[in-house]
Amino acid sequence: MNFTVAIDGPAAAGKGTISRAVAERFGFAHLDTGALYRAVGVKAAQEGCDPQAAARGLTAADLARDDLRTLEAGQAASKVAVIPEVRQALLEFQRSFARAEGGAVLDGRDIGTVICPEAEVKLFVTAAPEVRAHRRWLEVGGDEAAVLAEVIERDARDMNRADAPLRPAADALVIDTSELSIAEAVEAACAQIAAHLRA
Ligand code: DC
Repeated sequence: MNFTVAIDGPAAAGKGTISRAVAERFGFAHLDTGALYRAVGVKAAQEGCDPQAAARGLTAADLARDDLRTLEAGQAASKVAVIPEVRQALLEFQRSFARAEGGAVLDGRDIGTVICPEAEVKLFVTAAPEVRAHRRWLEVGGDEAAVLAEVIERDARDMNRADAPLRPAADALVIDTSELSIAEAVEAACAQIAAHLRA
């Protein structure tokens, strides 16, 4: 069975948590596409190499690094993600993952709009910037105002880039998690998927 769930949205909206829960509930494979951009950004910054070359030569070891979840890695990812050649180098891997036998859930920024416009289910998971910054701050610590500034800066870059900007697909279900518990957000996502599987 081929069945693709595309989950897009801004940083720290809850995409990752929902995607992992959905993958577990339905037995789908899961790809965190932000990790690809984070690995490219960190590799290019640390090795001083061209981001496009870093994207083309991405290895499993690059994706297994333990420093991909930092704020710096998020910013590095967002910066290399504006480069069309970087996006192009990562496209085929994401598309073939999406068609994996047994179903797949991919989370990112452009899954429903560019990578998998034919996805069976498209969700756009969002929340108020202050709520997202607070959640990210609970993970990374430091100065909460600085975390909010980082979230706003990254949103602006991700939404305003020319190539594959962050925006909901026309047929995406929008889930605003500002006032939802994790369990409620997961249930909203699962209900949508279950309805499509029954149809
Ligand atoms: O989801 P994340 O915070 O790990 O993503 C890090 C950055 O990578 C994000 O700010 C923009 C970029 N990204 C992207 O451009 N397209 C994707 N499908 C996933 C992430």
